[in-house]
Amino acid sequence: MSIPVIIDCDPGLDDAVALFMAFASDELDIKAVTVVAGNQTIDKTSKNARDLVAFAGGKCRVSVGASKPLLRELSTAEFVHGDTGLKNIVLPRADFDFSKEKPHEIIYEEALKNEGKIHIIALGPLTNIAAALLLHPDLKEKIGHITLMGGSCYLGNHTPAAEFNIFVDPEAAKIVFESGIDLTMVGLDVTNRAMVFEDEIEEFFNLGNRVSRTVGEILLSSLDFVREFGFEGVPMHDPFAMASVIEPDLMETKQYHVDVETRGVHTSGKTVVDVYNVRGLRPNASVGVDLSREGFVRLLKRLMKKYGE
Ligand code: BDR
Ligand code: CA
Repeated sequence: MSIPVIIDCDPGLDDAVALFMAFASDELDIKAVTVVAGNQTIDKTSKNARDLVAFAGGKCRVSVGASKPLLRELSTAEFVHGDTGLKNIVLPRADFDFSKEKPHEIIYEEALKNEGKIHIIALGPLTNIAAALLLHPDLKEKIGHITLMGGSCYLGNHTPAAEFNIFVDPEAAKIVFESGIDLTMVGLDVTNRAMVFEDEIEEFFNLGNRVSRTVGEILLSSLDFVREFGFEGVPMHDPFAMASVIEPDLMETKQYHVDVETRGVHTSGKTVVDVYNVRGLRPNASVGVDLSREGFVRLLKRLMKKYGE
């Protein structure tokens, strides 16, 4: 039986690959894609999301969400994802309209309809999810699980302390981590190691379909940038979060208590993960701590093959 999911995202190059994986996977039943501002402004992330869904042959609703974090101004990651949010990738324009319903309405409606089984896969700042929880106080009892790409036990990537998605909207992240919903945090501890190496990229071009070629282009266009930071390959943050839902055995998790720093001068947006349980609090998240990189790349290839050879 496939898992009913809502994908909340801010495409974004790696969000794009994660969406391609999701639409190729029999394990997921995608109810909607909801969009948030993050890697780029909401007009750009929404357009990208809609074009990506169409490109992957997806049929679900695409809903335009928050244009800025709950309390802060938006910080984007233009230096990673370029002016359009998809760097040099140009997609055909989708031939369908955005949903008239807002993300919080869709999340609430699907949570009810799926009777506690809806799984939200959050690949951007958590603004839409937090807004839904604020607007529907009973929603937290009705969501089955949230898997989020964000945070880390140790270092950040957008600041020395904070990972980008949590940095952009720490107040939203705090609401989600304190909600009591079953959470899986797929942070940099694992996603920085979910790399595709240069000699593995060729195969995505060789598969020969337009989606796998686009994945190849995304990987190639990211190589120089990630090398500047000392990576041997391209870390696939959002795709690995997606992979952890499709094939849970790819990731090892530990139960930890996670707080979100919202005020630190140098540490705003840091996930404070109590690895040694020094505070003695009950864990509120399963945190990804180890992975099978080879298994991830194998899954990525298997799914891209589904778009044709
Ligand atoms: C996260 O930040 C974004 O730039 C990526 O899309 C990913 O969701 C990685 O820190
Ligand atoms: Ca993202």
